[in-house]
Amino acid sequence: MSDDETAAVPLTPDFYQYLAAPIDRVEQDAQGLWIFWPDALRLRCHRFWLRENTMGHGGIDPATREGLMDPAELSDAMQMTSCDLTEAGDLQILWAPDGVRSRYHSGWLRHIAEGQHRPQSWVPEPLLWTAASLPQPPRRNARAVLNDNRALSDMLNDLLARGVCVVEQAPCEPGFLNRLAARIGPVRDSNFGPLWDVKADVKLAGDAKTNTTANTGFRLGPHTDLPTREIPPGFQFLHCLINEADGGESTLTDGAALIEELKTTRPDDYEILSTRRWIFFNRGPGIDHRFSAPIIDLLGGEGVPTIRAFYPVRAFPDMADEDVGPAYAALRRFYQLADDPRFELTFRLGPGDIMCFDNRRILHGRKAFSGSGQRHLQGIYIDRDEVLSTARAVNRARATLTDVA
Ligand SMILES: [Fe+2]
Repeated sequence: MSDDETAAVPLTPDFYQYLAAPIDRVEQDAQGLWIFWPDALRLRCHRFWLRENTMGHGGIDPATREGLMDPAELSDAMQMTSCDLTEAGDLQILWAPDGVRSRYHSGWLRHIAEGQHRPQSWVPEPLLWTAASLPQPPRRNARAVLNDNRALSDMLNDLLARGVCVVEQAPCEPGFLNRLAARIGPVRDSNFGPLWDVKADVKLAGDAKTNTTANTGFRLGPHTDLPTREIPPGFQFLHCLINEADGGESTLTDGAALIEELKTTRPDDYEILSTRRWIFFNRGPGIDHRFSAPIIDLLGGEGVPTIRAFYPVRAFPDMADEDVGPAYAALRRFYQLADDPRFELTFRLGPGDIMCFDNRRILHGRKAFSGSGQRHLQGIYIDRDEVLSTARAVNRARATLTDVA
């Protein structure tokens, strides 16, 4: 008999703690069973899934909480000899042919019935915005985000719902972004390095030493970074260390709102932008990143599409010749819309501000500089998986009043 079989509360296949949700009854059939709760919520479970999720006995490893069962080991002989409920209302199954007895925590089963195991659970839905509905990005205090999981949860929820948040009053120390990243997840490296500088000095405009338009005094129209990658970086964090330059205001546009506008008012443009491909190309000595994809890239998934919109690296049309003219026309209108004051926020980043945004949804830009002066930002990328993982953990801990493991 394993420890789990004698424990008052069954272990679960994860590290969360569950409140009891006593099961009302179960109905067994040849392939599995139905679980019913008193409020009529129910859950269908296949017998193989139940056997895989047995704690121990070749099912879930109690140490790692990962599954140990190679699907090749699944056998038609694995049958439920009996299934019933414990006094606490947990599910209990006796298995043939090996006589294993499994218990399944009622609260763990209930969280599946409620859909809390799905990727979109514990994170907010995207909330589309325009300049009218979001005149300024939400702001959160840097010290609070570093020290308090509630503040971190608020900030990550801003990022996932609105796609943008300014973390303010951060120390103007180079490398501070690594401390912020330590709260969220691993930094994503690129050919610009894990932590990169954006130094705009009007005197630099046209200087051949820089390898990106970002490091010049030119205007940078609304764009997203690194469309040259199969999956562009999920989130971008730009820390303002110095901003003494005249002009150079930051801009943000919600690409998800642009897509909705296009679908409503310009469905032909949406069709072209989401199906016709361009080849994006990072040029540099020893560097040859390329990817071919539409400007509005569904990436084969659900949710907000990825906007590939960095015109400095959009190199070649990858479509039938007769589509190129209409694709340019749609592109022109798309960029005009992205720069339209109805959709575009304009604000000035001050020293200590960290502009955080969804790099695959939000288009960011910079107005031209109107006078002399220094502006120094540092940036990092963190992928969407990391932001989502931490958001789920802190949101779930907050909702259930437990600490994050
Ligand atoms: Fe950028």
